[in-house]
Order: sequence, then C-alpha cells, then structure tokens
Amino acid sequence: GKVAVLLGGRSAEREISLMSGTAVLEALQRQGVKAHPFDPAERPLEDLKSEQFARAFIALHGRYGEDGTVQGALELMGIPYTGSGVLASALGMDKWRTKLVWQALGIRTPRHALLEPATDLAQIAAGLGLPLIVKPAREGSTIGITKVTRAEDLPAAYHKAAERDRLVLAEEFVSGAEVTVAILQDTALPLVRVEAAGGFYDYEAKYFSDETRYYCPSGLPAAQERAIQEQALQAYRAVGCEGWGRVDAMLDAGGNPCFLEVNTSPGMTGHSLVPMAAREAGITFDELVLRILETADA
Ligand code: DAL
Ligand code: MG
Repeated sequence: GKVAVLLGGRSAEREISLMSGTAVLEALQRQGVKAHPFDPAERPLEDLKSEQFARAFIALHGRYGEDGTVQGALELMGIPYTGSGVLASALGMDKWRTKLVWQALGIRTPRHALLEPATDLAQIAAGLGLPLIVKPAREGSTIGITKVTRAEDLPAAYHKAAERDRLVLAEEFVSGAEVTVAILQDTALPLVRVEAAGGFYDYEAKYFSDETRYYCPSGLPAAQERAIQEQALQAYRAVGCEGWGRVDAMLDAGGNPCFLEVNTSPGMTGHSLVPMAAREAGITFDELVLRILETADA
C-alpha cells in the first residue's frame, strides 16, 4: 500500500524536518515504494485515512510530530507508523522528565536544576558549577540552548530558553567528548564522536561552526565503545523507545557516558548522524530508510 512520509509540521525544527523527509521520500521512491509527502501543517491528518495510506514514515522533528501527538492520532486512525509509540515519544521530547526516569534507574545523566522565574540563579551557578548549559526542556536541534561561562550571563540564557518553553533546565557541563549512539531496529550502530576543531569542545563550536568534526569510527577503544553502546540501549529502553532513535551523551573524565537525551525521530538529512553511523555499519542510506520503514510493521 501507499506510504505517507510525514514531514515539515509546525515545530521550530520544521526546516530540518523538510530536509529529513525529502531525503527519506527520495530514498523510498528510488526503491519502488509508493511514497508520498504529507505535511501536517498544510492539511488535516485525517486525510491519511481518506486517502488510504497503509503506513506512515514519521520524519517530523520536535513538537506536534516527535512528541507523541501525531503518534496518538495515527493510533486512533489505525495507521502503523515508524519508531516509538505515544508514551516514549512524549517522554523523549521532555528532557527533564527523561532525566528523572534515568536517575530513578541509575542511568547516568548530568546533574541539573529546573529554572523558574523566581529561581535564584546565583545559587544554581554555585550548585552546578560553571560552565553550565541552559536549555528549554522540550526543544530539538539545540534551539534556545546556551553554554553559560559567567554567572552574570545566566539571566539572559534563562530568558532565551524560556521563550521556547516554560520548562527550562540548567545542566552541569560535562567536558569530555560528545558521542551519539544511533539505534536501528533496537540494535546499537557504531558510535559517532563529535569534536570541535582544535580539540576545544564547546556547544557553540559544535552547533554553529563548520569546524566541527565527526568521527565514525569513533576512535574509542572497542571495549569502551561496546560499553557505551550497551548503556545507550539501556537508556533507550528506559524511555520505552522502539524501532529506532538516537541517544546523545557526553563522556566524563573517566570516559563514562553521561546521557543527555534521546531523540525518537532523529535527523535524516544527508549530513545527519544516524545515516553516518549506518554507513559505518555497511548500511546504505536507502537500506536504512527501508529498515526504518519496517519498524512500522513490528
Ligand atoms: N532534533 C534533530 C533533528 C536531531 O536530533 O537530529
Ligand atoms: Mg534532541
């Protein structure tokens, strides 16, 4: 039957989703799948039913797409979809509640505090140390995130994040390498290690500079890589994720992962990290897309 590739949507990550969805759509069409683009921002989701789509490939990022809302609507319509279900999607979208679940299960995550308008920010800085990261709890693609190195910059960072979400998180900065673990059909793929040029790691460099380097293979010792993959799978399962996803972590001084978040509908653009990890595992982009589509039937 026909496959709808859900892309675009109404979140702040709309543009990225359009890129992910277009890449997915083209890969499916190249392989003879009857796939059509479907942007929930432009038409009612109910059209999926009236137009008799058999399955949905979710390439939406952020709210109203990655957060359980679309998943719930698809459940009600009886249309199978890729990836995680309603609960895991909603939980994964909320970095604060994800951390609470991980803490309860003994899965390491950076220390944090929830920021509110009346919070004493100086006390937060004293407690978590500097630098620290301020982020909206329910955003993606690092939108609204600031790395704060001076206590006097905390209020501005708080307001920037609060524009995006009333739930704002301050997080201890873990200064090792950032690694990401792509998970496909509930199996961990090779790690991608992210590093800024010059060996100085910082969020600005990572997200806003062309100098950021991605290493896959990661260059980490095999035993360490396996241990991180295993812990990433535990973190993924703890949130209840299914099908596929991507778990992001920072390594501490001892090389142990401290988990930041799980992405239940990760980027699938030509430059995204899941396709990079798949390639290292010998899985082409086209094959990756087909295998993600299979998760709709599971
Ligand atoms: N939120 C972006 C799309 C990612 O995690 O890849
Ligand atoms: Mg994310």
